[in-house]
Amino acid sequence: MTEQIVILDFGSQYTQVIARRIRECSVYSTILRYDTPSKDIAALKPRGIILSGGPSSVYAKDAPLPDRGIFSLGVPILGVCYGVQLLAHFMGGKVEKGQKREYGRGTLRVSRGACALFTGLPRRLEVWNSHGDKLTRIPKGFGAVAVSDNSELAVIEHRAKRIFGLQFHPEVAHTPRGRELIANFVHRICRCGKHWTMRHYVEQAIAEIRARVGSERVILGLSGGVDSSVAAALLHKAIGDQLTCIFVNNGLLRANEAEVVQQVFGRNFKMALQYEEASELFLRKLRGVTDPERKRKIIGKTFIDVFQSATRRAGAARFLAQGTLYPDVIESVPIAGNPAALIKSHHNVGGLPKNMKFQLVEPLKCLFKDEVRQLGLELGLPKEIVFRQPFPGPGLAVRCLGEVTPEKLQVLRRADAIVVEEMKLAGLYYKTWQTFAVLLPVRSVGVQGDERTYDWTLAIRAVESQDGMTADWVRLPYELLEKISLRITNEVRGLNRVVLDLTSKPPGTIEWE
Ligand code: XMP
Repeated sequence: MTEQIVILDFGSQYTQVIARRIRECSVYSTILRYDTPSKDIAALKPRGIILSGGPSSVYAKDAPLPDRGIFSLGVPILGVCYGVQLLAHFMGGKVEKGQKREYGRGTLRVSRGACALFTGLPRRLEVWNSHGDKLTRIPKGFGAVAVSDNSELAVIEHRAKRIFGLQFHPEVAHTPRGRELIANFVHRICRCGKHWTMRHYVEQAIAEIRARVGSERVILGLSGGVDSSVAAALLHKAIGDQLTCIFVNNGLLRANEAEVVQQVFGRNFKMALQYEEASELFLRKLRGVTDPERKRKIIGKTFIDVFQSATRRAGAARFLAQGTLYPDVIESVPIAGNPAALIKSHHNVGGLPKNMKFQLVEPLKCLFKDEVRQLGLELGLPKEIVFRQPFPGPGLAVRCLGEVTPEKLQVLRRADAIVVEEMKLAGLYYKTWQTFAVLLPVRSVGVQGDERTYDWTLAIRAVESQDGMTADWVRLPYELLEKISLRITNEVRGLNRVVLDLTSKPPGTIEWE
């Protein structure tokens, strides 16, 4: 069984970050609900358990509590923030109610030497605090390891039982040496090796896919996005021609998109690629429609129809493969104040109808996005695919405001290609989360040559984000913006004005729709 660390989720917005940090140490991690029975946890034979932070107070009526059996499993435990309160609650310490919850940078001073968590780290550390309720009496058998500006008990340890508590968040970027601290926990304290690498994963996943699929056929909807592309490459490596990929051209793709997919998967990888040309159908259904929700619905439904008939033409297959990722399958903890609980995005719900009689194969189901990219490189996919920016399922329809017409799409495609090309030339494309053009249904007067024009407006959107849930607009260099604007107004007929979107999310969304 894979060596792993179990993280019990008490509703922190950082739970997934903890899981990723551990995996960055080449150790597998699993997120489980806070109330998972300890016998189920024991069955996984975890090398250690982390109690995440969370928005609650242990004194609250419905405070989320773990099965107390976890403290008798004999494995090391690390409590983070709310996790420390739990240690106090179960082991006889005391927590005092803070007036309000505040976050902020602080300095930690390690006072007790030889705590394995701090091996190789300096005595003074910058940390990201969470001043909520705070520990005021140390639980029995514990010693104080470090103090911070606001707490004498910022880090505690029970050396014999190997239980630790941190008032701050080691997993966030604002705790610069936090990764080393987490590495100390998993390697020195939990004694995990470095077995979780994408190279190992490929072998393991291939064996699992072969065992599951046998000699049956598998169908996969290939969108050209990172997830479905990596899933395709992995499955192809495992089962070769038993895999058929279906690529639907909905007429809402970016410039060259369809060609790249056919080139990479059809010609390079020599996969069985069934190309479904459905542009006309989609555009016909979208004719005259301006309401964003209706556009989405029409596109979603048309996609299902096209995909279903494509699968029938692909011939009998027992399995349908999907590039579902770990964050999509983690059960969110329904605790008020937990933003993760709201995150299940409206974007990916729906999917394919239940009446499609396939069994699902989801070979990326335990991976985070950064791992999927690693895996993609491992499988030989080009950087252009592995590091591509997220692109919405309804495609350019959400970037072509108002009615979607072939003419407007043509204008948008050309302008978007210039934005992408210039961003790449400037070395900024792969450093931003998303950079794209939006065609606004606004005409204004311009003058080009000696002629007055009355043309459309293009907005440039460049955002920085970790996960698409929040985003900040990118401060692109003026010289670059100038070049993009000049090229667009010179090269793309139908546009005479370029504007820049200066809105973060919230209050804006990333796509304009
Ligand atoms: P918003 O516009 O809600 O977008 O801030 C957040 C992220 O989701 C992407 N997005 C989609 N992805 N299907 C998808 O797979 C969709 O329908 C969809 N709509 C938006 C968007 O590009 C951004 O990364």
